[in-house]
Amino acid sequence: MTQQGFGSIAVLTGAGISAESGVPTFRGENGLWRQYRAEELATPWAFQRDPTLVWEWYDWRRGLIASCAPNAAHQTLVEMDRRCQNFMLVTQNVDGLHQRAGSERVLELHGNIWQVRCTEENTVFENHDVPLHQVPPGCSCGALLRPHVVWFGETLDPETLGAAYRAVEGCDLMLVVGTSAVVQPAASLPAMAKDRGAYLIEINLEKTPLSAYADEVILGAAAEELPKLWLRLEESLC
Ligand code: OAD
Repeated sequence: MTQQGFGSIAVLTGAGISAESGVPTFRGENGLWRQYRAEELATPWAFQRDPTLVWEWYDWRRGLIASCAPNAAHQTLVEMDRRCQNFMLVTQNVDGLHQRAGSERVLELHGNIWQVRCTEENTVFENHDVPLHQVPPGCSCGALLRPHVVWFGETLDPETLGAAYRAVEGCDLMLVVGTSAVVQPAASLPAMAKDRGAYLIEINLEKTPLSAYADEVILGAAAEELPKLWLRLEESLC
C-alpha cells in the first residue's frame, strides 16, 4: 500500500459481504431458489407473468434475512462511517444489514427488501411482515404491491445513483467488497474511482473482472479480511 494518507473513502458492497451472515449470494452455488436464478425472478416481466411466484421468492428471502445478523464486515464499515469525515457506503444489497449494523451513510442502489411499492400509485411503505399475511400482497387501493427494489431491465433511482457517482469521483480510497462486479451500473463505479486516481482495494473469495486493475486484491472472506484491512488503514487516515 502507498504511504499517502487517505482523506476520503468510498465502499461498494455486494452479496458476498452478507454471505457469512447466512444470506445466499445470487451467483454462488446456493444462488438458486427452487430451480430459478435471480435473473429469472427479479424482472418486471416475471412479476407481470406470475406475481405470486416472484413474491414467494421474496417472502422466502425476507424470512431468511430476518433470521440473519450483521457480521464483522458490516461492523467494520460502521466503524469507518464513524471515524472518517468523508465516507460513503454504496451497496447493491437490499437486505438492510448495513443499517441494522449501524451504518448511517448508506446508498442502496438496488432498493430495500423491507419496503414495498404500490404498482398503481407508486407509494412506498415499510413492511416487515415475516411471513407476508398474503401472497401476493395488495395495497389498500386494490392494486398489487411489489418489492421496492430495482429489477433487471429497470433504471436505478437517479438521485441515489448521482450521489454514488459523486462519492466515488471524490474518493481517494475505494474498497470493493463481495461483489461479482458484473451488474451495471454498479460494476463501473470502481473503474470510475480508479480513473480519478483513487487507490482501489478489492476483497472477494475469488478474482473478478475488477481484479486486473485493482491496486490490491485480497482473496478471502469479508468478515475476516475487512477487519484486518481496517486495522491497517486506520493508521493512514488523514
Ligand atoms: P453475486 O452473487 O453476483 O456475487 C457475490 C460475490 O461475492 C462473488 O464474487 C463471490 O465470490 C463473493 N463472495 C461470496 N462469499 C464471500 C465472502 N464470504 N467474502 C467475500 N466475498 C464473497 O452478488 P452481487 O455482486 O451483489 O441485483 O450481485 C449484484 C446484483 O445482481 C445484486 O444486487 C442483484 C443481483 O442479481 C438485483 O437484484 C437487481
